[in-house]
Amino acid sequence: MWLGCVCRSSTLFLLIAATLLLFTASVTAWRPWPNQQQNTMNTTADLEFGGSKKYEGSSEFVHLRYHMGPVFTNKITIHTIWYGHWQKSQKRIIRGFLNSISAVNGKHPSVAGWWKTVQLYTDQTGANISHNVRLGEEKNDRLYSHGKSLTRLSVQSIIKSAVTARTRPLPINPKSGLYLLLTADDVQVEDFCSQICGFHYFTFPSIVGYTLPFAWVGNSAKQCAGVCAYPFAVPSYIPNLKPVRSPNGEVGVDGMISVIAHEIAELATNPLVNAWYAGQDPSFPVEIADLCEGIYGTGGGGSYTGQMLEGEDGVTYNMNGVGRRFLVQWVWNPIVNYCSGPNALDQ
Ligand SMILES: *[C@@H]1O[C@H](CO)[C@@H](O)[C@H](O)[C@H]1NC(C)=O
Ligand SMILES: *[C@@H]1O[C@H](CO)[C@@H](O)[C@H](O)[C@H]1NC(C)=O
Repeated sequence: MWLGCVCRSSTLFLLIAATLLLFTASVTAWRPWPNQQQNTMNTTADLEFGGSKKYEGSSEFVHLRYHMGPVFTNKITIHTIWYGHWQKSQKRIIRGFLNSISAVNGKHPSVAGWWKTVQLYTDQTGANISHNVRLGEEKNDRLYSHGKSLTRLSVQSIIKSAVTARTRPLPINPKSGLYLLLTADDVQVEDFCSQICGFHYFTFPSIVGYTLPFAWVGNSAKQCAGVCAYPFAVPSYIPNLKPVRSPNGEVGVDGMISVIAHEIAELATNPLVNAWYAGQDPSFPVEIADLCEGIYGTGGGGSYTGQMLEGEDGVTYNMNGVGRRFLVQWVWNPIVNYCSGPNALDQ
């Protein structure tokens, strides 16, 4: 999902907007619920099948194209910035997910199996997205260096602080590093909850000094779990809808996992927003995870999540990581032209 230029009357913003208008207008964003993409394009089959027969986002009208830009074909290293107060147990869930992406011999259906769909994307030379994703350095910003109310641009300033810190700065790694900024549940971010649960983009040299692909994802637990941690919480305005039990006992963090997965899949295939996306307008690209928003299993689409798995302990998930289970949305498969995931029933 995409947002237009969010023009606030901040002088700084206007100044930068003047020089970077195109860029600021094209920050990607995502929220999983309600599933109401304002489709000017025919990206969901709802349009073609009248909403009743949508099958995992499958659509002959989706024209996902490669726009010749770089993708992540080398080993991918994810550097995390923990902004604000994070509990150790919360960090372990997120690290557990990131460490599962390249795990071998995982129990089927696995997180590594989910990443295999992302690996199907290639660059101009035919090189695939790397299978090798690992956790890099971490930085704690415990004292909320930029406050508890952030804008899209102040997010970049936090990354700048992390890569230029006097002690243990994050490494500068524009070719194979992804920078993941995670904000605690008491941090507000511009458009968080109202329009987005996370976004990815790349940093501006004028702010950070480098062009670094990054993503931000926030913990929605105290602000809008029904929006950003669906289906572990449900929006209050929908009657008779019951939340399902989250696999790691942390509604907000368990909900972040799918958003993090969404952003990492898009960062790997479209890090500079000039590689893999659908749509005619480069300012409003629809990327490989946008196309499968809210789809977690076979039959998913519209407001139905698709078939998920239920553990004997009553938790809902759709894939196994290393020692943990997770619920992660599917991504677009460019070979078969529909959304796919490791828990598909027809595999
Ligand atoms: C969407 O699909 C409809 C029906 O197939 C078609 O008439 C229309 O031109 C399509 N719109 C776009 C923007 O592709
Ligand atoms: C690399 O991408 C091609 C084209 O999508 C695909 O056929 C092939 O299976 C991919 N290789 C791996 C290892 O995923």
